Amino acid sequence: MSDALLEVNHLKKYFPITAGLFNRTIGHIKAVDDISLSINRGETFGLVGESGSGKSTVGRTILRLHEKTGGQVLFKGIPIHELPKAEMRKLRPKMQLIFQDPYSSLNPRIRIGDAIGEALLDHGLAAKEEIRDLVLEVLEACGLSPYHYNRFPHEFSGGQRQRIGIARALVLNPDFIIADEPVSALDVSIQAQIINLFQQLQQTRGLTYLFISHDLSVVEHLCSRIGVMYLGTMMEMAPRDELFRTPLHPYTKALLSAIPVPIPKLKRERIVLKGDIPSPANPPAGCKFHTRCPYAVEQCKEQVPEFRHVGNDHYVACHLV
Ligand SMILES: Nc1ncnc2c1ncn2[C@@H]1O[C@H](COP(=O)(O)OP(=O)(O)OP(=O)(O)O)[C@@H](O)[C@H]1O
Ligand SMILES: [Mg+2]
Repeated sequence: MSDALLEVNHLKKYFPITAGLFNRTIGHIKAVDDISLSINRGETFGLVGESGSGKSTVGRTILRLHEKTGGQVLFKGIPIHELPKAEMRKLRPKMQLIFQDPYSSLNPRIRIGDAIGEALLDHGLAAKEEIRDLVLEVLEACGLSPYHYNRFPHEFSGGQRQRIGIARALVLNPDFIIADEPVSALDVSIQAQIINLFQQLQQTRGLTYLFISHDLSVVEHLCSRIGVMYLGTMMEMAPRDELFRTPLHPYTKALLSAIPVPIPKLKRERIVLKGDIPSPANPPAGCKFHTRCPYAVEQCKEQVPEFRHVGNDHYVACHLV
């Protein structure tokens, strides 16, 4: 048996585009278009890609915050999109989402301790008198202090707010956390602290992460395997070192070449992609990347490349590899 905590098979999420008086559906935004991946227990899987490539939609559809259009999500072998509402509700605490701006989800008039404890009460996971201790414990685990319990959201810095976001997820004792750009709004030194916190918590609590970022240098430190998305499709997927050492897809190469190098002498050639990411409502035929690919040939315009295994747990969808 595989050790996968999460398995995603051919997942699709299309959003209808409506128009006119009767809101007739005139097309679809193919935000997630046939994505497959699996994440082992205790592993961190990194999902990267430009803005609009569908990363957040993958995350939200995995958690069933969006209903899927097609495919399957298995969490501990359970097809969660098929679960009745009540069963799904019971499972919710086990799968948590942390996002970029936890501040927006905090009520400015509710004290942080109460905000963290709220979810415990909602899910009936603890008795009223137990909540304070559980919250204090999780505050400490997230590098916050007991006196923060009675503070209000506006009294915290950006980094501290992200710790609160993590504490809110953690208090429910999840097995799986999706972190959607959790450090993108923070400056670099704070980013490193929060990434360390994610790592520490993973070790002490055996957590499994799906870590979403548009920035490859952020996932590099944290993730054992990385998937690269473009326009709703997985272009390449490989163990971290393999991906950084031998990227195969031109899109991955372009993303990697955009990471600043610490020693200028080692300067690599920067691959600058032409044009913007096309609309997912009307994606290019053939390889979706061909309109921006510096190496595209005729075949790329006509034929969809297969996402295939090329050895070393490395998968790529490109005609030229
Ligand atoms: N609720 C929605 N209704 C309609 N379209 C949506 C919805 N959510 C996302 N989309 C569209 O789906 C596509 C993918 O969006 P998504 O937010 O998943 O991308 P992303 O990779 O997370 O981008 P970013 O890096 O900017 O967060 C975009 O074209 C977006 O406009
Ligand atoms: Mg997003």
